Amino acid sequence: MVNPLEPAPIAELSRAEQLGKDQDAVKATVKEYYGETLKTSNDLRTSACTACKPPPAAVRAALAEVPAEVKEKFYGCGNPIPAGIEGLRVLDLGCGSGRDCYVAAKLVGEKGSVTGVDMTPAQLEVAISHADAYCKDKLGYAKSNMTFIQGEIEYLDKAGIKDSCVDLIISNCVINLSPDKARVLSEAYRVLAPGGEMHFSDVYCDRRLPQSVRTHPVLLGECLAGALYNNDFIRLCRKVGFTDPRQLECEEIQIHDAELRDLVGEARFYSITYRLFKVPGQIEDLCEDYGQVAVYKGTIPGHTHSYDLDDHHKFVANKPMLVCGNTASMVGETWLAPHFTIIGDRAVHFGQFDCSGPKTTTGAGGSPSNSAGACGPGGACC
Ligand SMILES: C[S@@+](CC[C@H](N)C(=O)[O-])C[C@H]1O[C@@H](n2cnc3c(N)ncnc32)[C@H](O)[C@@H]1O
Repeated sequence: MVNPLEPAPIAELSRAEQLGKDQDAVKATVKEYYGETLKTSNDLRTSACTACKPPPAAVRAALAEVPAEVKEKFYGCGNPIPAGIEGLRVLDLGCGSGRDCYVAAKLVGEKGSVTGVDMTPAQLEVAISHADAYCKDKLGYAKSNMTFIQGEIEYLDKAGIKDSCVDLIISNCVINLSPDKARVLSEAYRVLAPGGEMHFSDVYCDRRLPQSVRTHPVLLGECLAGALYNNDFIRLCRKVGFTDPRQLECEEIQIHDAELRDLVGEARFYSITYRLFKVPGQIEDLCEDYGQVAVYKGTIPGHTHSYDLDDHHKFVANKPMLVCGNTASMVGETWLAPHFTIIGDRAVHFGQFDCSGPKTTTGAGGSPSNSAGACGPGGACC
């Protein structure tokens, strides 16, 4: 019998994605765009690859130390590095010239590690060339805690990334470029350790794009042509085992180039940061009420007063909050667990959880941070 909480086999997922697409041609176009066409982020023709809000203070401070050449070739669309990651093993999918790896290398500390995977040699060369000096001279580490691997994010196995060996996957404006997104997500699920998280920013669309847009080389390189319809992305997540994707941030992308804007017509594009937690067997497809309460301890650096798990769960430090079983697992059985106390277990079921907004134990409903659906083309539930 099929267990709805277990991921579907990778071959089954990939077949549908592969139909009618020449994967090698897509990858060659992308490699040329990032290896030769673009020299710096000034060469971009849309805001897709630079649509992000200003990064949090800890990231801004870390960025001050990152070599200029690494930053000049940054083409990310969001802020995929969560706070409080000291000691974690981080993997960056499509690291490019390595800006986010350099920031993460500082935030994980000398005992943590960062691995960047990218298929474009010209981008990786920049990342590799500054790594040793940055870690030793700027961060004061005995040796570099960064490793860069040339490889394809659909085939992390071939890049030597073993099962369950990563605590946090980050990625910035990359997965839209992959011709086999199911395989990317499935590989991400495989390499994450139980309790790990994929925390990443990417471009999504409010509709399924026509073939004329999907095959346009500039729109592909600019991270628009490969953007998934958001609901299809959520379906894909659920199939590979990330059953309850949580949206954290969302920003609409502006297309300033008139020719490109005309090509995409009424389609709207968004840069969205998602959180996908791997808690095998625990994340259900709907939010269920077990009467559990989560209390945030206020211990994540930079978040002493409150912590946003996603765009509709703001935990105020030391204030008990009623949560569904999925949320209890996400904060209580993952790398976030040291920062939360969970009261109650799943012994008794009280029915479906009210997803209209989180409630405190004092009975106040609907957090002011509840912006689910306020931005973007749709979204997951609780
Ligand atoms: C928009 S850039 C973003 C780079 C980096 N994350 C950043 O924020 O600067 C996309 C990067 O993803 C890489 N990439 C795209 N598809 C890939 C794939 N299938 N496997 C590995 N790398 C890929 C490209 O080589 C490029 O460096």
